[in-house]
Amino acid sequence: MAQVLCQLPPINSDRLLVGIDTADDAAVYKLNEDTALIQTLDFFTPVVDDPYIYGQIAAANSLSDVYAMGGKPTLALNIVCFPACLSMDILAEILKGGSDKVREAGALLVGGHTVDDNEPKYGLSVTGIIHPDKVISNSNAKPGDILILTKPLGLGILNTAIKAEMLSEGIQKKAIHVMTSLNNIAAEGMNMAGANSCTDITGFGLLGHSYEIAKGSEVSIVIDSKSIPIIEGSIENAKMGLIPAGAYRNKDYLGKNVVFDGDVPEYLQDILNDPQTSGGLLISLPKEKSQELLDFYGKNLKTEFAIIGEVTEKQDSYIIVK
Ligand code: CO
Ligand code: CO
Ligand code: CO
Repeated sequence: MAQVLCQLPPINSDRLLVGIDTADDAAVYKLNEDTALIQTLDFFTPVVDDPYIYGQIAAANSLSDVYAMGGKPTLALNIVCFPACLSMDILAEILKGGSDKVREAGALLVGGHTVDDNEPKYGLSVTGIIHPDKVISNSNAKPGDILILTKPLGLGILNTAIKAEMLSEGIQKKAIHVMTSLNNIAAEGMNMAGANSCTDITGFGLLGHSYEIAKGSEVSIVIDSKSIPIIEGSIENAKMGLIPAGAYRNKDYLGKNVVFDGDVPEYLQDILNDPQTSGGLLISLPKEKSQELLDFYGKNLKTEFAIIGEVTEKQDSYIIVK
């Protein structure tokens, strides 16, 4: 997307604090000395059969881009594609799921737009606010930072298994819990501790989004593959080769920017490239601030989290996985 967007005429505005050039999660526009607007849009096709849960996941995912910038969601608009031949009750369930998540985020759902389409698609355009000095971009990680991931990986692999009806109900519930969880508490802790950089983990997988931070910040990121939180069931499915096509696209795209140093098994490499749906935040923060954040998460965060690596001066590759 960023490659296509950069073909558009460049935007020059002193008020645009974050634009399209750094592949960040959202644009940020300074209104005055105290307030900046965060603007995002995201939508996708169903990842689960249940329309209410799908609505929740899509909305949590859309809201996440505001959290990833350190902001607070304020207003949301529905973006809906829906086949006219399907029951309107299904649409109502999707919208209810979205509405419940927006409410949980403390934002207001104030409208939207629906078009007729062959396949349902749903998401939100979200407006958030933030103090202009508190914006957390994806391009300010510093050597010496440590990296914290706030949700476990494996969602793309598990969604593939859900579609093939190959997943036990127990594991399915765990994946849904992770996908419907807002990144609000993750962001609250990050803002409190004072992070240097952040992004949320979505379609490009952990390595793709790590690469965006590393490249934007001109640093290298060293990931400790043994410390990665992984949702139960993903490893078994990855070992069987049940990997979504997006994981291979991510791997190809990254190429030599990622180096696997030592013994990182193939299935684990696939999990690191696995596209996530409504994944967690990847937070880069000074080491001395990390304990405060880990304590806060230990008390408040309802998803698995971990320190997964560190930031170094720029090396030959942007990403080194050990
Ligand atoms: Co994002
Ligand atoms: Co997004
Ligand atoms: Co950001």
